[in-house]
Amino acid sequence: TTTEELQTLVLTTLDSKGSIENTKEFKASDGKEVDQLVLLGALKSLVDKEMVEYDTIEDEIWVLTDEGNEIVDKGSHEANVFEAIPAGDEGLSIPELQKLLGNAAKIGQGKAFKNKWITKKGDNLIRAVNSIIDQTRIDLDIICSTGKHSDPNVIADLKRRRLCDKHKIISYSVTKGPKFSLTIEKQARDITFEMLQSGEWKKANFKKYNFDALGIPPSGGHLHPLMKIREELRQIFFEMGFEEMPTNRFVESSFWNFDALFQPQQHPARDAHDTFFIKDPAVGTQFPTDYLERVKKVHSVGGYGSTGYGYDWKIEEAQKLLLRTHTTAVSSFMLYNLAQKEFKPVKYFSIDRVFRNETVDATHLAEFHQVEGVIADKGLTLGDLIGFMETFYEKMGIKNLRFKPAYNPYTEPSMEIFSYHEGLGKWVEIGNSGMFRPEMLEPMGLDPEIRVIAWGLGLERPAMIKYGLENIRELLGHKVNLTMIENNPICAFDLI
Ligand code: PHE
Repeated sequence: TTTEELQTLVLTTLDSKGSIENTKEFKASDGKEVDQLVLLGALKSLVDKEMVEYDTIEDEIWVLTDEGNEIVDKGSHEANVFEAIPAGDEGLSIPELQKLLGNAAKIGQGKAFKNKWITKKGDNLIRAVNSIIDQTRIDLDIICSTGKHSDPNVIADLKRRRLCDKHKIISYSVTKGPKFSLTIEKQARDITFEMLQSGEWKKANFKKYNFDALGIPPSGGHLHPLMKIREELRQIFFEMGFEEMPTNRFVESSFWNFDALFQPQQHPARDAHDTFFIKDPAVGTQFPTDYLERVKKVHSVGGYGSTGYGYDWKIEEAQKLLLRTHTTAVSSFMLYNLAQKEFKPVKYFSIDRVFRNETVDATHLAEFHQVEGVIADKGLTLGDLIGFMETFYEKMGIKNLRFKPAYNPYTEPSMEIFSYHEGLGKWVEIGNSGMFRPEMLEPMGLDPEIRVIAWGLGLERPAMIKYGLENIRELLGHKVNLTMIENNPICAFDLI
Protein backbone atom coordinates (compact mmCIF):
# COMPACT_ATOMS: atom_id res chain seq x y z
CA THR A 1 0.00 0.00 0.00
CA THR A 2 1.42 3.37 -0.94
CA THR A 3 1.56 6.39 1.36
CA GLU A 4 -1.14 8.16 -0.67
CA GLU A 5 -3.47 5.16 -0.43
CA LEU A 6 -2.92 5.00 3.32
CA GLN A 7 -3.61 8.70 3.70
CA THR A 8 -6.89 8.37 1.78
CA LEU A 9 -7.80 5.40 3.95
CA VAL A 10 -7.09 7.34 7.16
CA LEU A 11 -9.05 10.38 5.98
CA THR A 12 -12.12 8.46 4.75
CA THR A 13 -12.20 6.36 7.93
CA LEU A 14 -12.02 9.52 10.06
CA ASP A 15 -14.72 11.07 7.94
CA SER A 16 -17.12 8.17 8.42
CA LYS A 17 -16.25 7.11 12.01
CA GLY A 18 -15.03 10.36 13.54
CA SER A 19 -11.86 8.74 14.97
CA ILE A 20 -9.62 5.68 14.72
CA GLU A 21 -9.15 4.00 18.09
CA ASN A 22 -6.27 1.78 17.18
CA THR A 23 -4.63 1.41 13.80
CA LYS A 24 -3.73 -2.17 14.71
CA GLU A 25 -7.23 -3.21 13.57
CA PHE A 26 -6.81 -1.17 10.45
CA LYS A 27 -6.99 -3.21 7.25
CA ALA A 28 -5.89 -1.96 3.85
CA SER A 29 -8.33 -2.11 0.94
CA ASP A 30 -6.82 -5.44 -0.20
CA GLY A 31 -7.60 -6.89 3.27
CA LYS A 32 -3.93 -7.13 4.20
CA GLU A 33 -2.51 -5.84 7.46
CA VAL A 34 -1.09 -2.34 7.38
CA ASP A 35 2.62 -1.90 8.07
CA GLN A 36 2.60 0.49 11.05
CA LEU A 37 5.91 2.03 10.05
CA VAL A 38 4.67 3.01 6.60
CA LEU A 39 1.49 4.25 8.24
CA LEU A 40 3.53 6.44 10.58
CA GLY A 41 5.10 8.17 7.56
CA ALA A 42 1.64 8.79 6.12
CA LEU A 43 0.35 10.14 9.46
CA LYS A 44 3.31 12.46 9.96
CA SER A 45 2.80 14.23 6.68
CA LEU A 46 -0.93 14.66 7.51
CA VAL A 47 0.06 16.04 10.92
CA ASP A 48 2.36 18.55 9.19
CA LYS A 49 -0.68 19.81 7.32
CA GLU A 50 -2.66 19.85 10.62
CA MET A 51 -5.24 17.56 9.03
CA VAL A 52 -4.98 14.87 11.73
CA GLU A 53 -3.52 14.26 15.18
CA TYR A 54 -2.28 10.98 16.54
CA ASP A 55 -1.10 9.25 19.73
CA THR A 56 1.21 6.30 19.95
CA ILE A 57 -0.08 3.07 21.49
CA GLU A 58 2.53 0.69 22.79
CA ASP A 59 1.54 -2.90 23.31
CA GLU A 60 3.39 -6.07 24.18
CA ILE A 61 2.74 -9.45 22.67
CA TRP A 62 4.38 -12.81 23.11
CA VAL A 63 5.82 -14.47 20.04
CA LEU A 64 7.10 -18.02 19.71
CA THR A 65 10.74 -18.69 18.97
CA ASP A 66 11.68 -21.19 16.22
CA GLU A 67 11.85 -23.92 18.84
CA GLY A 68 8.47 -22.87 20.25
CA ASN A 69 6.92 -23.08 16.81
CA GLU A 70 8.42 -26.52 16.28
CA ILE A 71 6.77 -27.71 19.50
CA VAL A 72 3.39 -26.42 18.33
CA ASP A 73 3.93 -28.46 15.15
CA LYS A 74 5.42 -31.67 16.54
CA GLY A 75 4.81 -31.71 20.30
CA SER A 76 7.17 -31.05 23.22
CA HIS A 77 10.39 -33.02 23.66
CA GLU A 78 9.02 -34.73 26.77
CA ALA A 79 5.84 -35.77 24.94
CA ASN A 80 7.92 -37.09 22.06
CA VAL A 81 9.98 -39.16 24.51
CA PHE A 82 6.77 -40.58 26.00
CA GLU A 83 5.36 -41.39 22.54
CA ALA A 84 8.61 -43.03 21.45
CA ILE A 85 8.50 -45.50 24.31
CA PRO A 86 6.09 -48.36 23.53
CA ALA A 87 3.42 -49.22 26.11
CA GLY A 88 4.13 -52.31 28.18
CA ASP A 89 6.93 -53.70 30.39
CA GLU A 90 9.50 -53.99 27.63
CA GLY A 91 10.16 -50.25 27.16
CA LEU A 92 13.07 -48.85 25.20
CA SER A 93 16.84 -48.57 25.83
CA ILE A 94 18.38 -45.10 26.10
CA PRO A 95 20.66 -45.56 23.05
CA GLU A 96 17.61 -46.60 21.00
CA LEU A 97 15.67 -43.53 22.18
CA GLN A 98 18.64 -41.37 21.23
CA LYS A 99 18.67 -42.96 17.78
CA LEU A 100 14.98 -42.15 17.34
CA LEU A 101 14.96 -38.57 18.68
CA GLY A 102 18.56 -37.36 18.49
CA ASN A 103 19.34 -34.37 20.70
CA ALA A 104 15.74 -33.94 21.81
CA ALA A 105 15.94 -37.29 23.66
CA LYS A 106 18.16 -35.89 26.41
CA ILE A 107 16.12 -32.73 27.08
CA GLY A 108 12.82 -34.64 26.86
CA GLN A 109 13.87 -37.45 29.22
CA GLY A 110 14.55 -35.13 32.15
CA LYS A 111 11.22 -33.39 31.79
CA ALA A 112 9.35 -36.68 31.27
CA PHE A 113 10.87 -38.07 34.47
CA LYS A 114 9.95 -34.93 36.37
CA ASN A 115 6.37 -35.15 35.11
CA LYS A 116 6.40 -38.81 36.26
CA TRP A 117 5.45 -39.91 32.73
CA ILE A 118 8.26 -42.45 32.47
CA THR A 119 10.39 -44.53 34.81
CA LYS A 120 13.33 -46.91 34.63
CA LYS A 121 13.19 -50.69 34.51
CA GLY A 122 16.62 -52.30 34.42
CA ASP A 123 18.47 -50.46 31.67
CA ASN A 124 15.30 -49.55 29.81
CA LEU A 125 12.83 -46.69 30.02
CA ILE A 126 9.16 -47.62 30.37
CA ARG A 127 5.92 -45.65 30.47
CA ALA A 128 4.69 -44.81 34.01
CA VAL A 129 1.21 -43.67 32.95
CA ASN A 130 -1.21 -44.72 30.26
CA SER A 131 -1.66 -41.35 28.61
CA ILE A 132 -0.39 -37.79 28.91
CA ILE A 133 -1.55 -34.27 28.24
CA ASP A 134 1.14 -32.19 26.49
CA GLN A 135 0.51 -28.96 28.42
CA THR A 136 3.58 -27.19 27.00
CA ARG A 137 2.23 -27.61 23.49
CA ILE A 138 -1.23 -26.42 24.56
CA ASP A 139 0.23 -23.31 26.24
CA LEU A 140 2.40 -22.48 23.26
CA ASP A 141 -0.57 -22.93 20.98
CA ILE A 142 -2.53 -20.33 22.98
CA ILE A 143 0.35 -17.87 22.79
CA CYS A 144 0.77 -18.50 19.10
CA SER A 145 -2.81 -17.61 18.28
CA THR A 146 -3.47 -14.80 20.81
CA GLY A 147 -0.04 -13.36 21.64
CA LYS A 148 -0.92 -13.69 25.35
CA HIS A 149 -1.39 -16.21 28.17
CA SER A 150 -3.45 -15.75 31.32
CA ASP A 151 -0.90 -17.40 33.64
CA PRO A 152 2.23 -15.25 34.13
CA ASN A 153 4.07 -18.24 35.66
CA VAL A 154 3.58 -20.22 32.48
CA ILE A 155 4.88 -17.32 30.38
CA ALA A 156 7.91 -16.93 32.67
CA ASP A 157 8.68 -20.64 32.42
CA LEU A 158 8.34 -20.73 28.64
CA LYS A 159 10.50 -17.65 28.29
CA ARG A 160 13.18 -19.21 30.47
CA ARG A 161 13.09 -22.26 28.21
CA ARG A 162 13.51 -19.88 25.25
CA LEU A 163 10.29 -21.02 23.65
CA CYS A 164 8.72 -17.57 23.50
CA ASP A 165 9.80 -13.96 23.59
CA LYS A 166 8.31 -10.54 24.27
CA HIS A 167 7.77 -8.20 21.31
CA LYS A 168 6.79 -4.56 21.41
CA ILE A 169 4.21 -3.50 18.91
CA ILE A 170 3.45 0.07 18.15
CA SER A 171 0.23 1.37 16.67
CA TYR A 172 -1.65 4.65 16.71
CA SER A 173 -4.94 6.28 17.63
CA VAL A 174 -5.94 8.99 15.20
CA THR A 175 -8.33 11.95 15.42
CA LYS A 176 -9.23 14.83 13.13
CA GLY A 177 -6.97 17.89 13.13
CA PRO A 178 -8.04 21.56 12.81
CA LYS A 179 -7.56 21.49 9.04
CA PHE A 180 -9.23 18.13 8.46
CA SER A 181 -10.45 17.63 4.93
CA LEU A 182 -10.86 14.74 2.53
CA THR A 183 -8.59 16.21 -0.09
CA ILE A 184 -4.89 16.72 0.45
CA GLU A 185 -3.82 20.05 -0.87
CA LYS A 186 -0.38 20.15 -2.41
CA GLN A 187 1.95 22.32 -0.38
CA ALA A 188 4.60 24.61 -1.76
CA ARG A 189 8.16 23.97 -0.55
CA ASP A 190 9.90 27.12 -1.76
CA ILE A 191 9.02 30.57 -3.03
CA THR A 192 9.83 30.59 -6.73
CA PHE A 193 10.46 33.42 -9.13
CA GLU A 194 7.15 32.64 -10.88
CA MET A 195 5.23 32.75 -7.59
CA LEU A 196 6.61 36.20 -6.83
CA GLN A 197 5.80 37.48 -10.29
CA SER A 198 2.24 36.18 -10.37
CA GLY A 199 1.52 37.11 -6.76
CA GLU A 200 0.55 33.50 -6.16
CA TRP A 201 2.81 33.41 -3.09
CA LYS A 202 0.20 35.43 -1.15
CA LYS A 203 -2.31 32.61 -1.06
CA ALA A 204 0.06 29.66 -1.44
CA ASN A 205 -0.08 26.95 1.22
CA PHE A 206 3.53 26.51 2.36
CA LYS A 207 4.92 23.35 3.83
CA LYS A 208 5.92 23.89 7.45
CA TYR A 209 9.60 24.28 8.04
CA ASN A 210 11.08 21.33 9.92
CA PHE A 211 13.72 22.69 12.24
CA ASP A 212 14.45 19.20 13.61
CA ALA A 213 15.42 17.69 10.28
CA LEU A 214 19.01 16.46 10.18
CA GLY A 215 21.24 17.95 7.54
CA ILE A 216 22.74 15.87 4.75
CA PRO A 217 26.25 14.82 5.81
CA PRO A 218 28.77 16.57 3.55
CA SER A 219 30.26 14.16 1.06
CA GLY A 220 33.64 15.87 0.71
CA GLY A 221 36.45 16.98 2.93
CA HIS A 222 37.61 13.86 4.72
CA LEU A 223 41.14 13.96 6.01
CA HIS A 224 43.40 11.03 5.18
CA PRO A 225 44.71 9.27 8.34
CA LEU A 226 48.25 10.32 7.47
CA MET A 227 47.15 13.93 7.32
CA LYS A 228 45.48 13.57 10.72
CA ILE A 229 48.68 12.24 12.25
CA ARG A 230 50.61 14.98 10.45
CA GLU A 231 48.34 17.58 12.02
CA GLU A 232 48.82 16.07 15.48
CA LEU A 233 52.60 16.16 15.01
CA ARG A 234 52.55 19.73 13.70
CA GLN A 235 50.78 20.79 16.88
CA ILE A 236 53.49 19.10 18.97
CA PHE A 237 56.18 20.96 17.03
CA PHE A 238 54.39 24.30 17.29
CA GLU A 239 53.85 23.74 20.99
CA MET A 240 57.61 23.23 21.35
CA GLY A 241 58.40 26.44 19.50
CA PHE A 242 59.31 25.07 16.05
CA GLU A 243 58.91 26.78 12.67
CA GLU A 244 57.73 24.81 9.64
CA MET A 245 60.17 24.53 6.73
CA PRO A 246 58.84 24.96 3.18
CA THR A 247 58.79 21.51 1.62
CA ASN A 248 57.11 22.27 -1.69
CA ARG A 249 60.17 21.24 -3.77
CA PHE A 250 59.81 17.55 -4.53
CA VAL A 251 62.46 17.92 -7.24
CA GLU A 252 65.85 18.81 -5.77
CA SER A 253 69.38 18.88 -7.06
CA SER A 254 71.85 16.24 -5.93
CA PHE A 255 73.74 19.19 -4.49
CA TRP A 256 71.22 19.97 -1.72
CA ASN A 257 70.08 16.39 -1.32
CA PHE A 258 73.59 14.84 -1.07
CA ASP A 259 76.68 17.05 -1.58
CA ALA A 260 75.73 19.78 0.89
CA LEU A 261 75.24 16.95 3.40
CA PHE A 262 78.82 15.74 2.95
CA GLN A 263 77.55 12.60 1.26
CA PRO A 264 80.32 11.43 -1.11
CA GLN A 265 79.48 11.24 -4.82
CA GLN A 266 80.24 7.49 -4.91
CA HIS A 267 77.80 6.82 -2.06
CA PRO A 268 75.66 3.77 -2.90
CA ALA A 269 72.42 5.64 -2.02
CA ARG A 270 73.02 8.02 -4.92
CA ASP A 271 72.98 5.05 -7.25
CA ALA A 272 70.00 4.70 -9.57
CA HIS A 273 68.79 1.82 -7.40
CA ASP A 274 67.71 4.11 -4.60
CA THR A 275 67.22 7.47 -6.25
CA PHE A 276 64.74 8.54 -8.91
CA PHE A 277 66.73 10.85 -11.19
CA ILE A 278 64.85 13.30 -13.41
CA LYS A 279 65.24 12.91 -17.19
CA ASP A 280 63.84 16.19 -18.43
CA PRO A 281 65.19 18.58 -17.29
CA ALA A 282 68.07 16.45 -16.07
CA VAL A 283 70.19 19.14 -14.40
CA GLY A 284 69.98 22.25 -12.27
CA THR A 285 72.70 24.89 -12.51
CA GLN A 286 71.87 27.63 -10.02
CA PHE A 287 73.99 27.24 -6.91
CA PRO A 288 75.69 29.76 -4.62
CA THR A 289 79.14 29.74 -6.27
CA ASP A 290 81.35 30.35 -3.21
CA TYR A 291 79.52 27.80 -1.18
CA LEU A 292 79.70 25.25 -4.00
CA GLU A 293 83.47 25.75 -4.12
CA ARG A 294 83.75 25.17 -0.36
CA VAL A 295 81.64 22.00 -0.62
CA LYS A 296 83.84 20.76 -3.45
CA LYS A 297 86.92 21.44 -1.34
CA VAL A 298 85.71 19.73 1.83
CA HIS A 299 84.79 16.60 -0.18
CA SER A 300 88.00 16.42 -2.18
CA VAL A 301 90.77 17.76 0.07
CA GLY A 302 89.08 18.42 3.42
CA GLY A 303 89.24 21.44 5.73
CA TYR A 304 87.78 22.57 9.08
CA GLY A 305 89.97 19.95 10.77
CA SER A 306 88.84 17.16 8.41
CA THR A 307 90.87 15.29 5.80
CA GLY A 308 87.83 15.03 3.50
CA TYR A 309 87.25 12.00 1.27
CA GLY A 310 90.10 12.62 -1.14
CA TYR A 311 88.32 12.05 -4.42
CA ASP A 312 87.77 14.10 -7.56
CA TRP A 313 84.47 15.97 -6.84
CA LYS A 314 82.51 16.66 -10.05
CA ILE A 315 79.97 19.43 -10.52
CA GLU A 316 78.08 17.31 -13.10
CA GLU A 317 77.19 14.86 -10.35
CA ALA A 318 75.93 17.65 -8.07
CA GLN A 319 73.80 19.15 -10.85
CA LYS A 320 71.73 16.01 -11.41
CA LEU A 321 68.09 16.60 -10.56
CA LEU A 322 66.22 14.01 -8.52
CA LEU A 323 63.11 13.43 -6.45
CA ARG A 324 64.35 14.24 -2.95
CA THR A 325 65.24 11.05 -1.07
CA HIS A 326 64.88 12.69 2.34
CA THR A 327 63.64 15.98 3.77
CA THR A 328 67.17 16.58 5.11
CA ALA A 329 67.64 18.16 1.64
CA VAL A 330 65.32 20.91 2.87
CA SER A 331 67.22 21.18 6.16
CA SER A 332 70.53 21.70 4.36
CA PHE A 333 69.02 24.45 2.20
CA MET A 334 67.48 26.13 5.27
CA LEU A 335 70.71 25.93 7.30
CA TYR A 336 72.70 27.45 4.43
CA ASN A 337 70.22 30.35 4.38
CA LEU A 338 70.44 30.68 8.13
CA ALA A 339 74.23 30.99 7.87
CA GLN A 340 73.85 33.97 5.51
CA LYS A 341 72.22 36.10 8.22
CA GLU A 342 73.21 37.17 11.69
CA PHE A 343 72.88 34.04 13.78
CA LYS A 344 69.94 33.39 16.01
CA PRO A 345 69.01 29.97 17.45
CA VAL A 346 66.32 28.18 15.42
CA LYS A 347 64.06 25.16 15.64
CA TYR A 348 62.79 23.92 12.29
CA PHE A 349 60.56 21.03 11.33
CA SER A 350 58.87 19.60 8.27
CA ILE A 351 56.53 16.73 7.49
CA ASP A 352 56.32 15.83 3.84
CA ARG A 353 56.86 13.34 1.06
CA VAL A 354 60.14 11.74 0.00
CA PHE A 355 60.87 9.24 -2.78
CA ARG A 356 63.01 6.13 -2.97
CA ASN A 357 63.37 3.63 -5.77
CA GLU A 358 62.60 0.62 -3.59
CA THR A 359 60.90 -2.69 -4.25
CA VAL A 360 57.32 -2.18 -3.18
CA ASP A 361 56.04 -4.66 -0.59
CA ALA A 362 53.71 -4.77 2.42
CA THR A 363 55.83 -2.31 4.41
CA HIS A 364 57.65 -0.33 1.69
CA LEU A 365 56.45 2.11 -0.92
CA ALA A 366 58.44 4.16 -3.43
CA GLU A 367 57.15 7.29 -1.74
CA PHE A 368 56.49 7.97 1.90
CA HIS A 369 56.43 10.79 4.44
CA GLN A 370 59.24 11.95 6.67
CA VAL A 371 59.08 13.97 9.83
CA GLU A 372 62.20 16.10 10.16
CA GLY A 373 63.37 18.18 13.08
CA VAL A 374 66.39 20.48 13.34
CA ILE A 375 67.65 22.59 16.26
CA ALA A 376 70.58 24.97 15.87
CA ASP A 377 72.22 26.78 18.75
CA LYS A 378 75.61 27.41 20.28
CA GLY A 379 76.97 24.64 22.46
CA LEU A 380 74.28 21.99 21.98
CA THR A 381 75.40 18.50 23.06
CA LEU A 382 74.41 14.89 22.49
CA GLY A 383 72.67 15.11 25.88
CA ASP A 384 70.43 17.83 24.45
CA LEU A 385 69.55 15.58 21.53
CA ILE A 386 68.71 12.62 23.79
CA GLY A 387 66.75 14.79 26.22
CA PHE A 388 64.88 16.44 23.41
CA MET A 389 63.99 13.08 21.79
CA GLU A 390 62.54 11.88 25.08
CA THR A 391 60.29 14.93 25.41
CA PHE A 392 59.25 14.85 21.77
CA TYR A 393 58.31 11.15 21.70
CA GLU A 394 56.60 11.36 25.07
CA LYS A 395 54.21 13.90 23.58
CA MET A 396 53.35 11.21 21.02
CA GLY A 397 52.67 8.78 23.88
CA ILE A 398 55.95 6.88 23.35
CA LYS A 399 58.13 6.33 26.43
CA ASN A 400 61.08 4.03 27.07
CA LEU A 401 63.45 5.06 24.32
CA ARG A 402 66.73 3.32 23.54
CA PHE A 403 69.49 4.79 21.44
CA LYS A 404 71.84 2.78 19.27
CA PRO A 405 74.98 4.15 17.60
CA ALA A 406 74.52 4.38 13.84
CA TYR A 407 76.08 5.92 10.77
CA ASN A 408 74.98 8.79 8.51
CA PRO A 409 77.46 10.61 6.24
CA TYR A 410 76.21 13.94 7.60
CA THR A 411 75.97 13.29 11.36
CA GLU A 412 78.51 12.34 13.98
CA PRO A 413 77.62 10.91 16.38
CA SER A 414 74.49 9.30 14.89
CA MET A 415 71.86 7.37 16.78
CA GLU A 416 68.97 5.17 15.80
CA ILE A 417 66.02 5.50 18.16
CA PHE A 418 64.15 2.42 19.34
CA SER A 419 61.00 2.02 21.36
CA TYR A 420 59.49 -1.08 22.91
CA HIS A 421 56.26 -1.95 21.11
CA GLU A 422 53.88 -3.71 23.50
CA GLY A 423 51.71 -5.12 20.70
CA LEU A 424 54.62 -6.59 18.74
CA GLY A 425 56.52 -7.53 21.91
CA LYS A 426 59.82 -6.21 20.58
CA TRP A 427 61.97 -3.11 20.15
CA VAL A 428 61.16 -1.26 16.92
CA GLU A 429 63.16 1.45 15.20
CA ILE A 430 61.24 4.72 15.30
CA GLY A 431 63.78 7.24 14.15
CA ASN A 432 67.26 8.24 13.10
CA SER A 433 69.15 11.20 14.51
CA GLY A 434 72.48 12.84 15.07
CA MET A 435 74.58 16.01 15.26
CA PHE A 436 75.38 17.50 11.88
CA ARG A 437 79.11 17.26 11.03
CA PRO A 438 81.39 20.31 10.90
CA GLU A 439 82.15 19.25 7.28
CA MET A 440 78.51 20.01 6.53
CA LEU A 441 77.96 23.12 8.68
CA GLU A 442 81.17 25.07 8.38
CA PRO A 443 81.28 25.36 4.57
CA MET A 444 77.80 26.92 4.88
CA GLY A 445 79.41 29.70 6.89
CA LEU A 446 78.06 28.75 10.32
CA ASP A 447 80.23 29.62 13.30
CA PRO A 448 82.17 26.52 14.52
CA GLU A 449 80.59 26.96 17.97
CA ILE A 450 77.14 26.39 16.53
CA ARG A 451 75.88 22.85 16.93
CA VAL A 452 72.92 21.44 15.03
CA ILE A 453 71.03 18.43 16.29
CA ALA A 454 68.57 16.77 13.95
CA TRP A 455 66.40 13.73 13.55
CA GLY A 456 64.04 12.10 11.12
CA LEU A 457 61.25 9.55 11.35
CA GLY A 458 58.69 8.00 9.07
CA LEU A 459 55.07 9.03 9.30
CA GLU A 460 53.61 5.81 7.91
CA ARG A 461 54.69 3.46 10.65
CA PRO A 462 52.96 5.25 13.54
CA ALA A 463 49.91 5.69 11.27
CA MET A 464 49.76 1.97 10.52
CA ILE A 465 50.09 1.10 14.20
CA LYS A 466 47.51 3.72 15.16
CA TYR A 467 44.93 2.64 12.60
CA GLY A 468 45.67 -1.10 12.86
CA LEU A 469 46.69 -1.53 9.23
CA GLU A 470 49.05 -4.31 8.25
CA ASN A 471 49.74 -3.40 4.67
CA ILE A 472 51.08 0.01 3.73
CA ARG A 473 49.14 -0.22 0.48
CA GLU A 474 45.93 0.03 2.51
CA LEU A 475 47.13 3.43 3.65
CA LEU A 476 48.67 4.97 0.56
CA GLY A 477 48.29 4.51 -3.18
CA HIS A 478 45.60 3.41 -5.60
CA LYS A 479 44.36 0.48 -3.51
CA VAL A 480 43.24 2.64 -0.61
CA ASN A 481 39.65 2.06 0.46
CA LEU A 482 37.86 5.40 0.39
CA THR A 483 35.30 4.29 2.97
CA MET A 484 38.20 3.70 5.38
CA ILE A 485 39.35 7.29 4.72
CA GLU A 486 35.86 8.64 5.37
CA ASN A 487 35.20 6.62 8.50
CA ASN A 488 38.52 6.46 10.31
CA PRO A 489 38.52 8.21 13.67
CA ILE A 490 40.49 11.29 14.58
CA CYS A 491 44.04 10.74 15.71
CA ALA A 492 45.02 11.18 19.33
CA PHE A 493 48.48 10.06 20.28
CA ASP A 494 47.86 9.15 23.88
CA LEU A 495 45.69 6.33 22.51
CA ILE A 496 48.48 4.62 20.53
N1 PHE B 1 67.74 11.80 6.69
C1 PHE B 1 67.72 10.67 7.54
C2 PHE B 1 66.88 9.54 6.89
O1 PHE B 1 66.42 9.72 5.80
C3 PHE B 1 67.12 10.99 8.89
C4 PHE B 1 67.99 11.96 9.64
C5 PHE B 1 67.70 13.31 9.68
C6 PHE B 1 69.10 11.49 10.33
C7 PHE B 1 68.49 14.17 10.35
C8 PHE B 1 69.89 12.37 11.05
C9 PHE B 1 69.57 13.70 11.04
O2 PHE B 1 66.76 8.46 7.45
